[in-house]
Amino acid sequence: MTQFSGNPDVPDMGRRQFMNLLTFGTITGVAAGALYPVVSYFIPKSSGSAGGGLTAKDKLGNDIVASAFLATHQPGDRTLAQGLKGDPTYLVVTEDKAIASYGINAVCTHLGCVVPWNAAEDKFICPCHGSQYNNEGKVVRGPAPLSLALAHADVTDDKVILTNWEETDFRDGSNPWWA
Ligand code: FES
Repeated sequence: MTQFSGNPDVPDMGRRQFMNLLTFGTITGVAAGALYPVVSYFIPKSSGSAGGGLTAKDKLGNDIVASAFLATHQPGDRTLAQGLKGDPTYLVVTEDKAIASYGINAVCTHLGCVVPWNAAEDKFICPCHGSQYNNEGKVVRGPAPLSLALAHADVTDDKVILTNWEETDFRDGSNPWWA
């Protein structure tokens, strides 16, 4: 007869194994949950993308519907959306109240702060070290070394589809540094 056999305070082997299994299950469950965003980041999404592009999303993660967006935004507005690779990207409303064919990546080319739009100044002004970009995201004051990156923005089936901008940077005729 083993020393602890029959002692209700000490779990026997069967119960201990069961507890181990339960603990392992809980830990792996938690780990899987924690890993999900990481894993899903690397898995191309089947929904929300079209022709290699990505549907721009609002801050809640919902697809931006172009007609509804334009009904609530004014010409000249620059509005943050979730863009390619999850980068914050400004959608621009043109003077004739359409969504501009380019989106402006909001990540400062100096040290990566998200650059707010300053409508009064008609510029993007970085709060971190004062870099400035004109209303198309072209750098006009350092220390930022480069203009804000661009993405194509096209309206398809009332969704705003963002795709990589690999062509010449229309703001200064240079090759895109981000491509
Ligand atoms: Fe924008 Fe430094 S991160 S100016």
